[in-house]
Amino acid sequence: MGRKNKLKKFAEIRSYPNVVENRTPNPEESSDAGENDPRNLRGQWSKSFFRREAPIVLELACGKGEYTVALAQQYPDDNFIGVDIKGARIWKGATKALALQLQNAGFLRTRIEQLDEFFAPGEVHEIWITFPDPYLRKSHAQKRLTSDRFLAIYRNLLTEGSRIQLKTDDPTLFDFTKATWHHATDLMIEHCVDDIYDKTLVRPELEIKTFYEKMHLEAGKTIKYISAIYRPV
Ligand SMILES: C[S@@+](CC[C@H](N)C(=O)[O-])C[C@H]1O[C@@H](n2cnc3c(N)ncnc32)[C@H](O)[C@@H]1O
Repeated sequence: MGRKNKLKKFAEIRSYPNVVENRTPNPEESSDAGENDPRNLRGQWSKSFFRREAPIVLELACGKGEYTVALAQQYPDDNFIGVDIKGARIWKGATKALALQLQNAGFLRTRIEQLDEFFAPGEVHEIWITFPDPYLRKSHAQKRLTSDRFLAIYRNLLTEGSRIQLKTDDPTLFDFTKATWHHATDLMIEHCVDDIYDKTLVRPELEIKTFYEKMHLEAGKTIKYISAIYRPV
């Protein structure tokens, strides 16, 4: 995508009512955005952003937001937020959600490392992590969005009984996630499936296909899924 096109999309999402942007992405920097600071939504997403009380579901590394948009259509009683750092990708999902007039879909442009600046403890009901970068080098394992480092962030947002789930094509990331979540005493593994399309889907939402998933399927890869329920000890 050309730079001009990207800048146009950045400008557009700034005017979108369904997109919130982290304008102070450096955690060291203090936020001085005053009343426009999206951190003011912390603990207030239902009331101030969606304007109705409903469980909040996050799609992390949402890219073009296929899960956020499709889930919002399928589950009108829940509120969905796609999270990604790349504005030009978020633009795609946000534009589609606006065209569909979805009142229960929004997007947050931020680094996932900063999530707890935007959500209060217990505010998030469910997390989807869709085809995140696998960071294959062992020395980069803590960059994986399912690692202990990120679980520590998610614990600050989740509530008892929340579901956290990963969809991936990558065997290394899948095995790493299985082991990490298995060792976490507050996560109860619910489903762990090596090839989701091999038999009946364990959840109907797995039918939704993201941009990356379609590429992986075309390349002949199998799609894996793991979910766990958060039970703080
Ligand atoms: C491989 S793409 C997957 C996108 C989409 N879920 C899909 O399946 O098509 C990974 C996405 O994660 C986002 N990402 C990676 N690390 C991130 C981070 N620390 N914070 C926010 N977004 C991140 C990237 O910007 C990218 O859009």
